Amino acid sequence: MFTTATAPKTTFPADLFGAIADLKRDMNAVILAHYYQEADIQDIADYLGDSLGLSQQAAQTDADVIVFAGVHFMAETAKILNPNKLVLLPDLDAGCSLADSCPPDQFADFKRQHPDHLVISYINCTADIKAMSDIICTSSNAVKIVQQIPQDQPIIFAPDRNLGRYVIEQTGRDMVLWQGSCQVHETFSEKKLIDLMIQYPNAEVIAHPECEPPLLKHASYIASTTGLLNYSKTSDRTSFIVLTESGIIHQMEKLSPGKQFIPAPPIANCACNECPYMRLNTLEKLYLAMLNKTPEITMDEATRVAALKPMQRMLAMS
Ligand code: 13P
Ligand code: SF4
Repeated sequence: MFTTATAPKTTFPADLFGAIADLKRDMNAVILAHYYQEADIQDIADYLGDSLGLSQQAAQTDADVIVFAGVHFMAETAKILNPNKLVLLPDLDAGCSLADSCPPDQFADFKRQHPDHLVISYINCTADIKAMSDIICTSSNAVKIVQQIPQDQPIIFAPDRNLGRYVIEQTGRDMVLWQGSCQVHETFSEKKLIDLMIQYPNAEVIAHPECEPPLLKHASYIASTTGLLNYSKTSDRTSFIVLTESGIIHQMEKLSPGKQFIPAPPIANCACNECPYMRLNTLEKLYLAMLNKTPEITMDEATRVAALKPMQRMLAMS
């Protein structure tokens, strides 16, 4: 006779928000979240921000535990800045297609082909790539950072080719680009965007610079997620077509009740404008991560120390 082994069933408290607040107090934890997280996580976060804001918060927090509701490279960045703190990521599989598009061994070869170049890497990369970089940047400070580099200094910009092209356009600098990209920001259809612009003639198109050039040319405002959020709040316009991951619309609607936010449609009939990695985190997994103090972000100390230098340069230049 066979017996069937069943996995122990996890029971969650009826008031998950309250239980997370209790754990947070008991552990002296801070919850940092990105705008692409599900609405419940955004609502429970102590700090919600773009990659620069999240790094700045991680650099200055006095909490003992950082619960990072975002993707792996973001939690890894928090660990680079806080080697002695426990950094938890609700789902360790929450990766990033853009970070994956820059494998360290291939990037090392690429660097060897351009020996005189300064390496500026977008924060959406692994700790190994950060460790091979001279300066890190985010979508909110990339232009400002490149403008601070002497004109005669050749630059490699990695890993996002779309942000790189946007920075070249804004600064007039000729940079060598690593050809990486984000699957979410490359999913938008120009044809469907134009159809939406015809349907909503008063809507303003706002976009993240990770989008491709044919989409960006329709945008009247291009910025990081925090930049887009602030713009939509202060703008006199009441209707927006939003070219970035659709999770941010929850926050846009909260900050600007009464305004209309239309997510730009993907090429296929799918929810591809939702980041599949970001969405691996759920409120339940966040609760379990805090309860069990795992999954934890770890990395070898040599990589961390090498990755810290370009991070510190970014924070000083921002
Ligand atoms: P920012 O929030 O820094 O604009 O980055 C967007 C993004 O793609 C994060 O993965
Ligand atoms: Fe990475 Fe793109 Fe997801 Fe951001 S939206 S985490 S860049 S895959």
